[in-house]
Amino acid sequence: MALIAGFSEGFHDAALCLLDDTNIIHASHSERYSREKGDRWLHPTQLEMMRKADTVAYYERPWLKATRRLYAGQKLARRRTRADVSFSHHESHAAAGYYTAPFDDCNILVVDAIGEWDTISIWDNMKKVRSWRYPYSLGLLYSAITKRIGLKPNSDEYITMGMAAYGEPRYDLSPLLERNLHLGCDDIYPDARNEDLAASVQLLFEEKLLELVKLCPKDNLVLMGGCALNCVANSRIEGKNLWIMPNPGDAGSALGAAALVRRAKLTWVDPYLGTELPRSNPSAIVEELLAEKVCGVASERAEFGPRALGNRSLLADCRYDLKDTVNRIKRRQLFRPFAPAILEEFAGEYFEGPMNEYMQFTSRALHDYASVTHVDGTARVQVVRKDSSSVLRQVLEEWYEKTGVPMLLNTSLNIKDEPMVDNAHDAQMFTKKYGINVF
Ligand SMILES: [Fe+2]
Repeated sequence: MALIAGFSEGFHDAALCLLDDTNIIHASHSERYSREKGDRWLHPTQLEMMRKADTVAYYERPWLKATRRLYAGQKLARRRTRADVSFSHHESHAAAGYYTAPFDDCNILVVDAIGEWDTISIWDNMKKVRSWRYPYSLGLLYSAITKRIGLKPNSDEYITMGMAAYGEPRYDLSPLLERNLHLGCDDIYPDARNEDLAASVQLLFEEKLLELVKLCPKDNLVLMGGCALNCVANSRIEGKNLWIMPNPGDAGSALGAAALVRRAKLTWVDPYLGTELPRSNPSAIVEELLAEKVCGVASERAEFGPRALGNRSLLADCRYDLKDTVNRIKRRQLFRPFAPAILEEFAGEYFEGPMNEYMQFTSRALHDYASVTHVDGTARVQVVRKDSSSVLRQVLEEWYEKTGVPMLLNTSLNIKDEPMVDNAHDAQMFTKKYGINVF
């Protein structure tokens, strides 16, 4: 069968996906190889894998993008890697969701910052029915406010979302949607508290997203684009069968571009699609957790997407407040919550509201474990399904047997300000730096 490669490159979060017919045989972020966070260029390791492909697809249309960048007063961008074919930015987003979705007939809603000209698009299956164009962009607004409050745009939006729970939505930011936000909005509300600006942009985003969902008539909805990582807003969507491919941002569009060459439903198993390591021994992890309360896990294939879902995770005993320990490792502001991973059969007992295996929603905590609960009483839960073959499933089962608690704190395994651990060497570096064992 034909080998198809899709890639994103040139702006942020370069990624590669390889399809063997309808099987996703590899998907990876460039940053995991280069160790440069958000690396915009494909890594030589990925280029080597890509060399065997019969067709190479790029995730957006360079010339169309160039016209918009000129209009926006930005420098022209480039890509290094040759492609046989390219697709539009939003079409690649839509395809990454559509061809991995567990249903056939659906609407797709793509919401991101900007690609070529489209910033929001609605699809009837893979046919685009409506779009909104630059400068009107919910994603750009969210990024501009992220910058306004002193964080890094295109990177720290999740921190803005976490900060929103500490503020009041005092400001109407909707007039900014008409502005060229590539120039930023650092001039607005000079005396405002950052928390209130975060709360204001979060509320506006949630309301706009719900309005867009109303424009999608079908019961099945695919949500894609970087804005689909806003788990607080996702949780407010009701009455839909919702699918969000676990890597809905531009990196995930590497998969979308490849899928657009094949144009058939892909076999979606799970997001463990990157570098492969030997499977860890779950009993050793549980023993370490009982002794040290914290344990690194680097097992089997790396996650494709921004969330550590147990294969490149730092696990901790959620019965203790381990903020100091984990803060030493991670760049943590106080308002950032830690997330729990829980056995599926106990999820309803410990949390109320939407939750799934990819940490795409927030739900209300019904327990007293403060270390995995946000200030507003919610948590971004990873439900570890009964049929999961992951080592995390085995760890949680054994952990429950030993402690009576079906849940662990789960955060990504990375050295401060670095991408997630990818290979055995990275894991050794992690242990060397923090004295925490990685299994
Ligand atoms: Fe995008």
